[in-house]
Amino acid sequence: MRKSCRCCGGGELAEVFDLGVQPFANGFLTPEQLDKPEPRSPLVLMECVACGMVQLRHVTPAVDLFAEYAFQTGSSTRMVRHFRSLLLESIGRYVPRGKLVVEIGSNDGAALASIPDDRRCRRLGIDPAANLTEIARRSGVPTVTAFFTEELAGQVATIHGEASLIVACNVVAHIDDLDDFCRGVRRLLKHDGAFVMEVPDVDTLLARTAFDTIYHEHLSYFSVGPLATLFARHGLRVEAVEWNEVHGGSLRLTVRHGTGHSGDVSRWRDWRGIVRDWNGFAARCERERDELCEWLDDARADGGTVVGYGAPAKATVRLNYCGIGTDRLACVVDSTPSKQGRLMPGTHQPIYGPEWIDRSKPSDVLVLAWNHEREIVGKLAGYGGRVASVVRPRRGLRKLDM
Ligand code: TYD
Ligand code: ZN
Repeated sequence: MRKSCRCCGGGELAEVFDLGVQPFANGFLTPEQLDKPEPRSPLVLMECVACGMVQLRHVTPAVDLFAEYAFQTGSSTRMVRHFRSLLLESIGRYVPRGKLVVEIGSNDGAALASIPDDRRCRRLGIDPAANLTEIARRSGVPTVTAFFTEELAGQVATIHGEASLIVACNVVAHIDDLDDFCRGVRRLLKHDGAFVMEVPDVDTLLARTAFDTIYHEHLSYFSVGPLATLFARHGLRVEAVEWNEVHGGSLRLTVRHGTGHSGDVSRWRDWRGIVRDWNGFAARCERERDELCEWLDDARADGGTVVGYGAPAKATVRLNYCGIGTDRLACVVDSTPSKQGRLMPGTHQPIYGPEWIDRSKPSDVLVLAWNHEREIVGKLAGYGGRVASVVRPRRGLRKLDM
């Protein structure tokens, strides 16, 4: 349980949103596990009264979530392209020949592997998931299987030297002890190096009613002000802030040794305090839930069968929050081999490969992985039924022409 703010240390945390007691979003079940009780834990968001940082009240131990991890960067070409361009741009700016690039949360090594040899830098991945670091090493990316801590940073610096560039994309929100993390970055980063990180932006989450991106792995929901406060406490300076569309709206921060912060930070919208409309957010979440359930009930009343497309973590959250069992949604398809043959956490839809759609010809496909909507609609060119998005399904993504 969090008693104080992870960014500023403030002791007053106000409860702002409650998603109920939920299963783990990436806890896809094997058929044998169906008979055993499923782990569940509350999902309650708290906001720091002093700095506006948003964080989960209950902290799930990291080893329970990350020792084996289902999400694989290499499975999404769009993601690999995005991280590759981030790496190449940052290497061009900060990494002289032969110097070290470290990726924290390097997953299957796909991003580091995509650096062309002519950049002549040394690469090192760090990730706690043994199943993924094994894949990374097999593809030729030197990788340490461990959580990134101050102690590990010291060991890495001793063995490999300090890093000219450290990148961390979509991992900082997973870390409970951010003070230890920052001390680690400070220890490993060369005096003229740069730390580049990307995290989902909480204010975009609110604006887009993306409640399905709230789950146990995401301990923190960041905005610029609290992060600048955090780094400043550790002798690190936020130099640049950018926003991009990845994962439904992300912040990219460039951080270097130093004090104070750049004009980018003071210009950012939450720096002088932002009042977030959590009541409006909760009302919109309930409306989305009601609309989706009605749409599914109508499809069933018409004698149709609906299949979900994509089994990302956010599908688990939405199906469980909306109370959508196998009566309303028969099954889910996903292209990830390790998810096929398993069942959705909590709601227990079986997960098949996408070819199931051609074989079984359901009346409707409901896109659960809404951030990949275009790619998925493209793959359904040969399918004759209706396609809808889990966000506002009545609008329809493609109508049946008959
Ligand atoms: P993603 O949104 O990348 O991750 P998260 O779990 O963090 O929300 O997950 C997308 C999921 O959708 C992933 O399990 C793969 C699946 N998928 C398909 O099955 N087919 C596709 O064409 C695409 C783009 C994704
Ligand atoms: Zn705070």
